[in-house]
Amino acid sequence: MAGGVKIVEVGPRDGLQNEKTVSTAVKIELINGLTGAGIKNVEATSFVSPKWVPQLADAMEVLRQIQRRPGVCYSVLVPNQTGLEKALACQVHEIVVFTAASETFARKNLNCSIAQSFERFLPIAEIAKANGLAMRGSISCSFGCPYEGDVPIGSVIQVLVRLAALGCDTIDLADTIGVGTVSRVRELICGAAREFPVEKLAGHYHDTYGQALANILASLEAGLNIFHSSVAGLGGCPFAPGAAGNVATEDVVYLLNGLGVETGINLDALVSIGEFICGAIGRWNASKTGSALLAKRRCAET
Ligand code: HMG
Ligand code: MG
Repeated sequence: MAGGVKIVEVGPRDGLQNEKTVSTAVKIELINGLTGAGIKNVEATSFVSPKWVPQLADAMEVLRQIQRRPGVCYSVLVPNQTGLEKALACQVHEIVVFTAASETFARKNLNCSIAQSFERFLPIAEIAKANGLAMRGSISCSFGCPYEGDVPIGSVIQVLVRLAALGCDTIDLADTIGVGTVSRVRELICGAAREFPVEKLAGHYHDTYGQALANILASLEAGLNIFHSSVAGLGGCPFAPGAAGNVATEDVVYLLNGLGVETGINLDALVSIGEFICGAIGRWNASKTGSALLAKRRCAET
């Protein structure tokens, strides 16, 4: 397979928002380690209400203290103007506005309707553009909702069209609860690509049902080349109970290496960062590739 793939590492944000709180120093070491391993796009944190997501309450400190590597895009989630103002003060390259294709999920996640989320995004988009920031839009529940069940593709497309009109540079099709299947992925991308350039769509796949790698392969075949993943498969969403973390970055890199797709990411270094963060949190490593390579390393040491 020719051509490059863009990997957006979301572990420091999507991952850590759903894990036991770790210190600011650990977050900084995680981000610096990831960019040191060759990650070029990092979703570093969120400027959301600390009452809603206390795990990321130190967002400003993290962004101010990380080592900025040239050529790396640092992005953050912003739900409202308060979040945007903080992002502007911290020299990020990209902001992410996030809403949902499910009304109930929007209310649980943002405490507002889908329509109200767009009212909030309007001034954010204007100010972000005026300040030269890239803007990404994320559509939660693009494949299913923890509260409403199946979500019609038409509902996803409606939100996508509004995010495109808002001026989003890229748009994420997010499988919040990891229920997507290959056939649904193909159908959704086919519909979405009629409304927005396929090369600006991203796959954000949680791996609850173990379908994420298959869905990435199906997405690649359908023309997508931006994927989100989380080192060691960290995380989930606090407002989607039972949802697993994102597909593990190590597993995605192994898949792409096997396809001959260049990522510029050092897999061995990435595996070490996965081990580091799992140790810091005290959780198991959800990356199969990470676990396999760590076991091999241990064998070689004995
Ligand atoms: P609200 O309670 O309706 O709003 O929350 P509010 O305006 O009444 O604010 C409540 C308090 O939060 C106030 O403080 C505000 O000042 C403060 P108080 O006066 O009570 O002391 N506040 C803030 N503080 C810091 N930064 C801010 C901010 N905004 C308000 N930006 C709100 C509405 C949108 C703020 C809230 O619902 C929220 O923060 N939601 C975010 C939830 C979240 O982060 N969810 C997880 C990320 S999304 C996700 O994981 C899905 C994704 O991965 C894709 C997928 O997989 O589906 C992207
Ligand atoms: Mg997510």
